[in-house]
Amino acid sequence: MHAFAKSIGMDSMGATLGSHGQCLPRTPAMPFQVTIENTGETFACKEEDNVLKAMEQLRRKGIPVGCRNGGCGVCKVRVTEGRYLKKKMSRAVVSAQEEAQGCVLACKIYPQSDLRVDVVGKMARAVVARKSASFSFEFTTTTDVFQPDKET
Ligand code: FES
Repeated sequence: MHAFAKSIGMDSMGATLGSHGQCLPRTPAMPFQVTIENTGETFACKEEDNVLKAMEQLRRKGIPVGCRNGGCGVCKVRVTEGRYLKKKMSRAVVSAQEEAQGCVLACKIYPQSDLRVDVVGKMARAVVARKSASFSFEFTTTTDVFQPDKET
């Protein structure tokens, strides 16, 4: 177990619920939980993986994915809670002022504790809209769907 997690008494086998009700167990290998505040999505992350990579590996969504290497800025988030290490980010996509306000690139940060992030990049509106659309879709699927190949 990670030393920090142990120092705060974190139960390495404790479980949390994801936004769709899936159980996302913490494990010794993935001790940290990342929560995307815009969508409520959560996923586990190890300290040696960047946040974007962890999200993709677990097939979670919420943070837009672009170049995966700090060049496009679409994965920009504001960390509202938690500690992390960050690798060098291009000033073309994250200004010094933004960085001072907690804005970072999800593909360039590595958790040192549980994190809460807000998607603030170019596609932040689409993230919220997609979440709203999927929410309404879940409640509109009770009508019959026309299926031309299906015999009745
Ligand atoms: S995905 Fe392009 S900067 Fe992170």
